[in-house]
Amino acid sequence: MSQIQSLAVIGSGTMGAGIAQIAAAAGYNVVLSDVQQSFLDKALKSISGSYDKFVQKDKMSDGDRQAALGRLTTSTSLEDVAQADLVIEAITEQIDAKLVLLTHLDQLCKPSTLFASNTSSLSVTQMAQATKRPDQVAGMHFFNPPALMKLVEVVRTPLTSQATFDAIWQVSLKLGKTPVETRDTPGFIFNRLIIPYLNEATWALYEGAGKVADIDAAMKLGGNMPIGPLALLDLIGTDVQLHACQALFEQFGDSKFRPCPLNRAMVRAGLLGKKTGKGFYDYAQDPPKPVSMDPFRL
Ligand SMILES: NC(=O)c1ccc[n+]([C@@H]2O[C@H](COP(=O)([O-])OP(=O)(O)OC[C@H]3O[C@@H](n4cnc5c(N)ncnc54)[C@H](O)[C@@H]3O)[C@@H](O)[C@H]2O)c1
Repeated sequence: MSQIQSLAVIGSGTMGAGIAQIAAAAGYNVVLSDVQQSFLDKALKSISGSYDKFVQKDKMSDGDRQAALGRLTTSTSLEDVAQADLVIEAITEQIDAKLVLLTHLDQLCKPSTLFASNTSSLSVTQMAQATKRPDQVAGMHFFNPPALMKLVEVVRTPLTSQATFDAIWQVSLKLGKTPVETRDTPGFIFNRLIIPYLNEATWALYEGAGKVADIDAAMKLGGNMPIGPLALLDLIGTDVQLHACQALFEQFGDSKFRPCPLNRAMVRAGLLGKKTGKGFYDYAQDPPKPVSMDPFRL
């Protein structure tokens, strides 16, 4: 397997911009692609702003910042990614869109190009099957924000060749990440464990095992967690949790993943967490105050 020298990242949203940022900083030539130039301009602004912060904190030299920006180009044309050694897709989490993209990439890219998907919940195997090179496809699951989070789950499908897996593992290391190996099963490792944990915290509240502050304090102090599960749910968004939990429930067909009715009720009521100002906590208060159970009585 030839060395990976150049990367393309498709999708310049939250994740794609972050992945392009760390890849350019790590010395790769990167083409960042999206459907609209305005999205790419926004991503470039955010990448440049993030590099500036690293420079201010002495975590990056000004020369390295300039060099990284010089390695980064943007394009709205998929043809510009054709020569990349590795294409990482980070587009919207919709299987149909990803399948269409993989089919196009397969037609456009040089035969040796590897494809990686940053999907959180979709089947990488299904994406691999949309190409004529399923052995050259794997998952590369980054965490948000990619510039700060150390973990990458490298997802091996039953069709991924060892050479592809090894090459993507090496890229993860070069990006400064700690890769872990996972099979292409729903939720991989991290989401398979964290989503039921957060769901169970919601069930514990729903069934009256404890109040919001007590559940969070129990896990922080007893488990040495940096944040309680309900406060974490408010950060993630109760809607994002519901969607992820529902997906695991459907894919495994196992009742242990059944979303708590309280989670559904909160989403219906717009109690999505920090982004709507209220979830398990009321963010209009300083410090945020736990919301009483009463509004949730169903
Ligand atoms: N946000 C997270 O915390 C997180 C964490 C890990 C993995 N992921 C996964 O990363 C992927 C991207 O998530 P995100 O949060 O960055 O989404 P996002 O909505 O912020 O960005 C998606 C980008 O993809 C672009 N896009 C959509 N279709 C495209 C196409 N056909 N070609 C080119 N660009 C296209 C959109 O214009 C948008 O800029 C998803 O698969 C998601 O599951 C997200």
